[in-house]
Amino acid sequence: MADHPPIEAYDEIDSTNAEARRRAEAGEGGPVWITAARQTAGRGRRGRAWSTEIGNLAATLLTTTDVPAAEAAQLSFVAALAACDLADTCLGAGAARLKWPNDVLVFGKKAVGILVESGSRPDGRLWLAVGIGVNLAHAPSDTARAATSFAEHMGGPPPKAADAVEVLADRFEVWRRLWSTEGFAPIASAWTARALGLGERCEARLPNRTLLGVAEGMDQDGALRLRLDDGALERITAGDVFFGAP
Ligand code: BTN
Repeated sequence: MADHPPIEAYDEIDSTNAEARRRAEAGEGGPVWITAARQTAGRGRRGRAWSTEIGNLAATLLTTTDVPAAEAAQLSFVAALAACDLADTCLGAGAARLKWPNDVLVFGKKAVGILVESGSRPDGRLWLAVGIGVNLAHAPSDTARAATSFAEHMGGPPPKAADAVEVLADRFEVWRRLWSTEGFAPIASAWTARALGLGERCEARLPNRTLLGVAEGMDQDGALRLRLDDGALERITAGDVFFGAP
């Protein structure tokens, strides 16, 4: 077990990421975990909404870093590994796999989403809000792609959010320390060992275009290597990836 930052729990809030931003903009640097039993305006990647019903986990780590923004973004992979560990604890090793950039899928369906936001502090350092949503008890039905919950795959009740965040925060701290002392390489290899779809065809939906190709792996900076049909290699740094493409 690693000591993790303190956890501050709300019964209801608009969004734990929004709260982290408010606190950062008011000068708070963290590290602190902010959780909420219910979010009324939870947000997901690329402007999507994220629903958090009672029984699910919504948690955001507010922290401050000296490292440049591109490097700090690697914490999204740290978060994915921590969430995968939480899934392993609840469901057994191997039930959860990682999909680039940082979704956690349980038996092929999304059960965890991660949203990292950041901004500059007056002293030039960066604040980070590492938001993690875990479908412990409920899977939303209004998502574009199939979602699942831990509960759907457990013989008994899922863990309470308050217990799950302890495991998540512990595991995050373990991976964060590894990242901090040894850099991104061990994070990238742990991520690759649990990744889904490497070597398979996929469709990559980027902010301004869609590409088809084979997902070859993750670069040492977190970019996805996509081999296009004409043999060219594209490095994808932002977007969504869908496997099972023609
Ligand atoms: C995604 O689109 O996959 C990312 C979802 C991130 C959801 C989490 S829940 C805790 C934190 N607060 C938010 O409003 N969003 C993140």
